[in-house]
Amino acid sequence: MTAHMRDGVNRNRPQYWDARFAEDGFAYGTEPNDFLVSVVQQIRVGDALCLCEGEGRNATFLTQRGFRCTAVDFSPVALRKAESLAAQRGVIIATRCADMAGFDPGIAQWDLVTMIFGQPDCTIRRALYARIATCLRPGGAFVLETKAEEGATAESRYPGSANLCAELIDLEFEIARDGLRVLKEGRYHDGEQRTAQIFAFKRLKR
Ligand SMILES: C[S@@+](CC[C@H](N)C(=O)[O-])C[C@H]1O[C@@H](n2cnc3c(N)ncnc32)[C@H](O)[C@@H]1O
Repeated sequence: MTAHMRDGVNRNRPQYWDARFAEDGFAYGTEPNDFLVSVVQQIRVGDALCLCEGEGRNATFLTQRGFRCTAVDFSPVALRKAESLAAQRGVIIATRCADMAGFDPGIAQWDLVTMIFGQPDCTIRRALYARIATCLRPGGAFVLETKAEEGATAESRYPGSANLCAELIDLEFEIARDGLRVLKEGRYHDGEQRTAQIFAFKRLKR
């Protein structure tokens, strides 16, 4: 097994992420993802589900804007830090420790679902993304940013927006693009990175 493959296997385990989040400070910073910030005003305020939310920077930001947020992640270390970040900012977020493998996001339960640099492998991702439209209320929004490897296939952990859109059935896409940009989000997201960005809605009437 190559180092790259081992890394892929490890990323599917909460222990890998617990070790990262047990380091001092916030691995991805305490400020929200700027793509999420750029679209948030177009999203109806309500119940938000923040998938693979890590240390809570996005859920905390959304809660400060009036959303009721549930942050889901399989790293208990991350979720403790998420609760503490929210408390430092004077808000409360709900947290749920769960693996995206087999995760049930519910039916017509959310006004917003976010997936910011949550990058489970393709089997887990496809099953989850097939359920995003179902779990949103009509008019609800989905916001995603992930790493995107140039030329990656649909089997990749980091495919581009075209493959991701094909997996996100029954959504209408406002933004679906890939591009090189500079990330400034803590010590693990610091520098030039190719990413995919998606902003989509569930139709009001189907
Ligand atoms: C790169 S971090 C991004 C964290 C956060 N969304 C942010 O942008 O600050 C990826 C996150 O996904 C979580 N994660 C990875 N695979 C997962 C899975 N199968 N189920 C639940 N969480 C997972 C990790 O624990 C980690 O918190």
